Amino acid sequence: MTTLTTERLSLVPFTDDHVDGLNAMNSDPEVMRYLLGRPETRDETVVFVERVKLRWIECGYSWWSFIEKESGQIVGAGALQNLRREATGSPDPSCPLEIGWRLRRDCWNRGLATEAARAIAAFAFNTVHADELYAVCHPDNFASANVMKRLGMQYGGLQTWYGKNLTTYQTTTVL
Ligand SMILES: CC(C)(COP(=O)(O)OP(=O)(O)OC[C@H]1O[C@@H](n2cnc3c(N)ncnc32)[C@H](O)[C@@H]1OP(=O)(O)O)[C@@H](O)C(=O)NCCC(=O)NCCS
Repeated sequence: MTTLTTERLSLVPFTDDHVDGLNAMNSDPEVMRYLLGRPETRDETVVFVERVKLRWIECGYSWWSFIEKESGQIVGAGALQNLRREATGSPDPSCPLEIGWRLRRDCWNRGLATEAARAIAAFAFNTVHADELYAVCHPDNFASANVMKRLGMQYGGLQTWYGKNLTTYQTTTVL
Protein backbone atom coordinates (compact mmCIF):
# COMPACT_ATOMS: atom_id res chain seq x y z
CA MET A 1 0.00 0.00 0.00
CA THR A 2 1.42 3.33 -1.07
CA THR A 3 1.08 6.68 0.66
CA LEU A 4 1.51 9.67 -1.65
CA THR A 5 2.55 13.17 -0.62
CA THR A 6 1.79 16.58 -2.13
CA GLU A 7 2.50 20.09 -0.89
CA ARG A 8 -0.60 20.23 1.35
CA LEU A 9 -1.79 16.62 1.55
CA SER A 10 -0.88 13.10 2.55
CA LEU A 11 -2.79 10.55 0.47
CA VAL A 12 -3.17 7.55 2.77
CA PRO A 13 -4.75 4.21 1.74
CA PHE A 14 -8.06 3.72 3.59
CA THR A 15 -7.83 2.26 7.09
CA ASP A 16 -10.51 1.60 9.73
CA ASP A 17 -9.42 4.85 11.43
CA HIS A 18 -10.72 6.80 8.42
CA VAL A 19 -14.37 5.70 8.74
CA ASP A 20 -15.55 8.73 10.75
CA GLY A 21 -13.78 11.28 8.56
CA LEU A 22 -14.91 9.62 5.34
CA ASN A 23 -18.49 9.34 6.55
CA ALA A 24 -18.53 13.01 7.56
CA MET A 25 -17.83 13.78 3.88
CA ASN A 26 -19.92 11.03 2.26
CA SER A 27 -23.01 11.78 4.39
CA ASP A 28 -23.18 15.28 2.86
CA PRO A 29 -25.91 15.23 0.16
CA GLU A 30 -24.10 17.94 -1.84
CA VAL A 31 -20.92 15.83 -2.00
CA MET A 32 -22.92 12.76 -3.05
CA ARG A 33 -25.24 14.55 -5.50
CA TYR A 34 -23.64 13.12 -8.68
CA LEU A 35 -22.33 9.95 -7.02
CA LEU A 36 -24.80 7.88 -4.96
CA GLY A 37 -27.48 10.57 -5.33
CA ARG A 38 -28.09 10.44 -1.55
CA PRO A 39 -26.02 10.57 1.63
CA GLU A 40 -23.97 7.47 2.45
CA THR A 41 -24.82 5.85 5.82
CA ARG A 42 -22.12 5.01 8.34
CA ASP A 43 -22.66 1.28 7.74
CA GLU A 44 -22.12 1.84 4.02
CA THR A 45 -18.88 3.71 4.73
CA VAL A 46 -17.70 0.78 6.88
CA VAL A 47 -18.41 -1.66 4.00
CA PHE A 48 -16.71 0.72 1.52
CA VAL A 49 -13.55 0.85 3.66
CA GLU A 50 -13.50 -2.96 4.01
CA ARG A 51 -13.85 -3.38 0.22
CA VAL A 52 -11.07 -0.87 -0.44
CA LYS A 53 -8.70 -2.61 2.01
CA LEU A 54 -9.16 -5.85 0.03
CA ARG A 55 -8.64 -4.08 -3.30
CA TRP A 56 -5.32 -2.65 -2.14
CA ILE A 57 -4.17 -6.21 -1.40
CA GLU A 58 -5.54 -7.61 -4.69
CA CYS A 59 -4.53 -4.78 -7.07
CA GLY A 60 -1.87 -2.61 -5.41
CA TYR A 61 -4.05 0.48 -5.98
CA SER A 62 -7.46 1.69 -4.84
CA TRP A 63 -8.73 4.59 -2.70
CA TRP A 64 -6.76 7.06 -0.60
CA SER A 65 -7.99 9.46 2.09
CA PHE A 66 -6.69 12.99 1.53
CA ILE A 67 -5.31 14.09 4.90
CA GLU A 68 -4.50 17.77 5.20
CA LYS A 69 -0.99 18.04 6.63
CA GLU A 70 -1.72 21.23 8.55
CA SER A 71 -4.89 20.04 10.36
CA GLY A 72 -4.47 16.26 10.27
CA GLN A 73 -8.10 16.06 9.08
CA ILE A 74 -9.58 14.02 6.23
CA VAL A 75 -10.50 16.66 3.64
CA GLY A 76 -11.23 14.34 0.72
CA ALA A 77 -10.68 11.01 -0.97
CA GLY A 78 -9.60 9.80 -4.36
CA ALA A 79 -9.08 6.62 -6.29
CA LEU A 80 -7.15 4.79 -8.92
CA GLN A 81 -9.31 1.89 -10.05
CA ASN A 82 -10.44 0.03 -13.14
CA LEU A 83 -13.65 1.28 -14.71
CA ARG A 84 -16.54 -1.09 -15.40
CA ARG A 85 -19.24 -0.95 -18.07
CA GLU A 86 -22.19 -2.05 -15.93
CA ALA A 87 -24.07 -0.17 -13.20
CA THR A 88 -23.19 -2.70 -10.48
CA GLY A 89 -20.38 -5.10 -9.68
CA SER A 90 -16.66 -4.76 -9.11
CA PRO A 91 -14.12 -2.80 -11.16
CA ASP A 92 -13.32 -4.75 -14.34
CA PRO A 93 -9.58 -5.47 -14.78
CA SER A 94 -10.09 -5.56 -18.57
CA CYS A 95 -11.30 -1.92 -18.49
CA PRO A 96 -8.97 1.10 -18.39
CA LEU A 97 -7.88 2.74 -15.16
CA GLU A 98 -9.70 5.83 -13.93
CA ILE A 99 -8.77 8.50 -11.44
CA GLY A 100 -11.48 9.97 -9.24
CA TRP A 101 -11.80 12.54 -6.46
CA ARG A 102 -14.15 14.08 -3.93
CA LEU A 103 -13.65 16.74 -1.26
CA ARG A 104 -15.41 17.72 1.94
CA ARG A 105 -17.67 20.62 0.97
CA ASP A 106 -15.84 23.17 3.14
CA CYS A 107 -12.63 22.29 1.26
CA TRP A 108 -13.84 23.04 -2.28
CA ASN A 109 -12.18 25.85 -4.29
CA ARG A 110 -8.71 25.49 -2.81
CA GLY A 111 -7.15 23.43 -5.58
CA LEU A 112 -6.89 20.31 -3.41
CA ALA A 113 -8.60 17.89 -5.85
CA THR A 114 -6.29 18.91 -8.70
CA GLU A 115 -3.24 18.70 -6.43
CA ALA A 116 -4.18 15.18 -5.26
CA ALA A 117 -5.09 14.03 -8.78
CA ARG A 118 -1.64 14.96 -10.09
CA ALA A 119 -0.03 12.72 -7.46
CA ILE A 120 -2.41 9.83 -8.22
CA ALA A 121 -1.80 10.17 -11.97
CA ALA A 122 1.99 10.15 -11.44
CA PHE A 123 1.59 6.97 -9.37
CA ALA A 124 -0.58 5.43 -12.12
CA PHE A 125 1.94 6.07 -14.89
CA ASN A 126 5.24 5.69 -12.99
CA THR A 127 4.46 2.87 -10.56
CA VAL A 128 1.46 0.97 -11.96
CA HIS A 129 2.75 1.60 -15.54
CA ALA A 130 -0.69 2.51 -16.87
CA ASP A 131 -0.85 3.13 -20.64
CA GLU A 132 -3.83 5.45 -20.37
CA LEU A 133 -5.86 7.09 -17.63
CA TYR A 134 -9.56 7.96 -17.77
CA ALA A 135 -11.74 10.22 -15.65
CA VAL A 136 -15.54 10.19 -15.85
CA CYS A 137 -18.36 12.23 -14.34
CA HIS A 138 -22.08 12.94 -14.61
CA PRO A 139 -22.62 15.34 -17.56
CA ASP A 140 -23.89 18.04 -15.15
CA ASN A 141 -20.92 17.73 -12.79
CA PHE A 142 -19.04 20.72 -14.16
CA ALA A 143 -16.82 21.07 -11.07
CA SER A 144 -15.42 17.59 -11.66
CA ALA A 145 -15.06 18.11 -15.43
CA ASN A 146 -13.16 21.30 -14.64
CA VAL A 147 -10.65 19.29 -12.62
CA MET A 148 -10.16 17.03 -15.67
CA LYS A 149 -9.63 20.08 -17.90
CA ARG A 150 -7.29 21.72 -15.38
CA LEU A 151 -5.23 18.53 -15.41
CA GLY A 152 -4.89 18.82 -19.19
CA MET A 153 -6.86 15.65 -19.96
CA GLN A 154 -8.49 15.33 -23.39
CA TYR A 155 -12.26 15.26 -23.84
CA GLY A 156 -13.44 11.88 -25.12
CA GLY A 157 -17.15 12.69 -25.38
CA LEU A 158 -20.01 10.93 -23.63
CA GLN A 159 -19.15 7.27 -23.09
CA THR A 160 -20.96 4.42 -21.35
CA TRP A 161 -19.39 3.54 -18.01
CA TYR A 162 -21.12 2.31 -14.85
CA GLY A 163 -24.21 1.73 -17.02
CA LYS A 164 -24.60 5.49 -17.69
CA ASN A 165 -23.59 8.04 -20.30
CA LEU A 166 -20.78 9.92 -18.61
CA THR A 167 -18.54 12.82 -19.59
CA THR A 168 -15.19 11.16 -20.26
CA TYR A 169 -11.68 12.56 -20.34
CA GLN A 170 -8.47 10.64 -21.12
CA THR A 171 -4.71 11.10 -21.01
CA THR A 172 -1.62 9.10 -21.87
CA THR A 173 0.85 11.42 -20.14
CA VAL A 174 1.68 12.41 -16.57
CA LEU A 175 -0.42 15.41 -15.63
C1 LIG B 1 -15.34 17.67 -7.89
C2 LIG B 1 -14.71 18.47 -6.75
C3 LIG B 1 -13.69 17.60 -6.02
C4 LIG B 1 -14.03 19.69 -7.37
O1 LIG B 1 -13.57 20.50 -6.31
P1 LIG B 1 -12.88 21.91 -6.62
O2 LIG B 1 -12.60 22.53 -5.31
O3 LIG B 1 -13.70 22.66 -7.62
O4 LIG B 1 -11.55 21.51 -7.38
P2 LIG B 1 -10.06 21.82 -6.91
O5 LIG B 1 -9.85 21.32 -5.55
O6 LIG B 1 -9.16 21.34 -7.97
O7 LIG B 1 -10.05 23.42 -6.82
C5 LIG B 1 -10.06 24.18 -8.00
C6 LIG B 1 -10.55 25.57 -7.70
O8 LIG B 1 -9.87 26.11 -6.60
C7 LIG B 1 -9.30 27.38 -6.98
N1 LIG B 1 -8.12 27.60 -6.11
C8 LIG B 1 -8.13 28.39 -5.02
N2 LIG B 1 -6.94 28.35 -4.41
C9 LIG B 1 -6.14 27.54 -5.14
C10 LIG B 1 -4.80 27.11 -5.01
N3 LIG B 1 -4.04 27.47 -3.98
N4 LIG B 1 -4.32 26.25 -5.94
C11 LIG B 1 -5.06 25.85 -6.97
N5 LIG B 1 -6.36 26.23 -7.14
C12 LIG B 1 -6.89 27.07 -6.23
C13 LIG B 1 -9.07 27.25 -8.46
O9 LIG B 1 -8.98 28.49 -9.13
C14 LIG B 1 -10.33 26.50 -8.89
O10 LIG B 1 -11.43 27.36 -8.94
P3 LIG B 1 -12.12 27.71 -10.37
O11 LIG B 1 -12.65 26.39 -10.92
O12 LIG B 1 -13.21 28.65 -9.99
O13 LIG B 1 -11.03 28.28 -11.20
C15 LIG B 1 -15.81 18.94 -5.74
O14 LIG B 1 -16.74 19.75 -6.41
C16 LIG B 1 -16.52 17.78 -5.08
O15 LIG B 1 -16.03 17.17 -4.14
N6 LIG B 1 -17.75 17.46 -5.58
C17 LIG B 1 -18.55 16.40 -4.98
C18 LIG B 1 -17.98 15.03 -5.27
C19 LIG B 1 -17.89 14.75 -6.75
O16 LIG B 1 -18.83 15.02 -7.49
N7 LIG B 1 -16.75 14.21 -7.16
C20 LIG B 1 -16.49 13.92 -8.55
C21 LIG B 1 -17.13 12.69 -8.97
S1 LIG B 1 -16.88 12.39 -10.70
